[in-house]
Amino acid sequence: MTAAVAQIQTNSIEDAPLLKVQNLAKFYGSRVGCQNVSFDLFPGEVLGIVGESGSGKSTLLAALAGHHQPDRGTIHYRDQDILALQESERRRLSRTEWAFVHQNPRDGLRLGVSAGGNVGERLMSVGSRHYGNIRTQALDWLERVEISPDRIDDRPSSFSGGMQQRLQIARNLVTSPKLVFMDEPTGGLDVSVQARLLDLLRGLVRTLGLSVIIVTHDLAVVRLLADRLMVMKSGEVVEQGLTDQVLDDPQHGYTQLLVSSVLQV
Ligand SMILES: Nc1ncnc2c1ncn2[C@@H]1O[C@H](COP(=O)(O)OP(=O)(O)O)[C@@H](O)[C@H]1O
Ligand SMILES: [Mg+2]
Repeated sequence: MTAAVAQIQTNSIEDAPLLKVQNLAKFYGSRVGCQNVSFDLFPGEVLGIVGESGSGKSTLLAALAGHHQPDRGTIHYRDQDILALQESERRRLSRTEWAFVHQNPRDGLRLGVSAGGNVGERLMSVGSRHYGNIRTQALDWLERVEISPDRIDDRPSSFSGGMQQRLQIARNLVTSPKLVFMDEPTGGLDVSVQARLLDLLRGLVRTLGLSVIIVTHDLAVVRLLADRLMVMKSGEVVEQGLTDQVLDDPQHGYTQLLVSSVLQV
């Protein structure tokens, strides 16, 4: 194989989508959760999903992350048809390749287990057994999310909301996931705490080259974090494109309302 051919082949692998979603739909009885959703996510890309409350953002994210089975459509992760996988195989993927950051730290942490234990547990779930290594990595990750190492043995129930959220991020990223789902990660926090968390997230996303799908109703969050944006309304995608393009020159009437803050989201 010539070097040129090898180069082309390497490029074609890197340029392949990490996630390919086609015509996804989820219904709750006769109510639409989301429908007709199609998009690709490329490695290292941050995709923001915005829309008013009830527009289907969380339903879509939960379907992508395997928390429920969609009613229609396909999801391919690195060419694997994940809806066709055995449940055990899908669980393995979500432990080793993916991570999910919840809006409420209570959903993503064990508040009664020490901070170090929360991070260590996640490492053990992917096979780490060496106590010394686990503790070292836990300390390293506490530092990365700006939690003092002397809090390692404290329970997150004694932490502030912002600290709990930073710990949830450490717990999720310690296993080096390729794809991170985030559902309103800055929601429910004070504005100054949100700003600090956003700064931290932006640094981590860039340094680690993470692929991220982030759901939020806050356009400032996507402006800061997302390369690409998908706007949802009544369960469907009404507009998608590069974040700056969509926010600076929205084409759909709904996006125009969203951007001009006429809508209360
Ligand atoms: N568990 C559920 N049971 C019934 N309807 C639901 C459920 N979860 C969401 N829905 C409905 O699905 C639609 C989309 O909701 P959701 O995905 O939570 O929107 P968002 O995250 O954008 O606020 C809404 O009409 C909502 O009422
Ligand atoms: Mg939601």
